[in-house]
Order: sequence, then C-alpha cells, then structure tokens
Amino acid sequence: MKLTLLGRASQSSTSYEIQGDDLSVNLMSFLRSKGHPIASACYGEGVCKKCCILVNKEEIISCQIHLNSLTMGANYLIEIEYL
Ligand code: FES
Repeated sequence: MKLTLLGRASQSSTSYEIQGDDLSVNLMSFLRSKGHPIASACYGEGVCKKCCILVNKEEIISCQIHLNSLTMGANYLIEIEYL
C-alpha cells in the first residue's frame, strides 16, 4: 500500500510504500516515526482528537487507525492542514 502525505501549509508531499514491519503501528505513530509532527494531547488514547487528519478526504483519528486495518494494495492520500 502507498501513503502519500500532503502538507497543505507547505504544499509539499511525501510518499511511503508500507511494508510488513510497518503494519503493527497506528497511523499517528507511523507518521511521527517518519519525522512528521502529528499533534496530540492524550498520547494516543483517542480522547483529544488533536491527531485528526484527512485520509482520502475523510476525517479520521490517526491514533485509532492501525495500518493493518487499511487495504493492502490501495493508495491513500493523507492531508494535514498545518504541515
Ligand atoms: S492523540 Fe488524542 S485522539 Fe489521537
């Protein structure tokens, strides 16, 4: 699966090909591991909703979505306003 991250503020994009080792983490953790500063005030408990991002135009709570729940072989566009 391919994730393309678009920072709306900077209009920059980065793409990642997701491998098997990546599937055990949630989307927020994955993006942070790649150096993207995803906002959070509840440390991934799913309470603060500061980590909400757009995935294929749908708002999701990124700490609550594990990569293994996404469809293998699909392409996902992630948009973050403040990046
Ligand atoms: S980090 Fe708080 S809801 Fe995701």
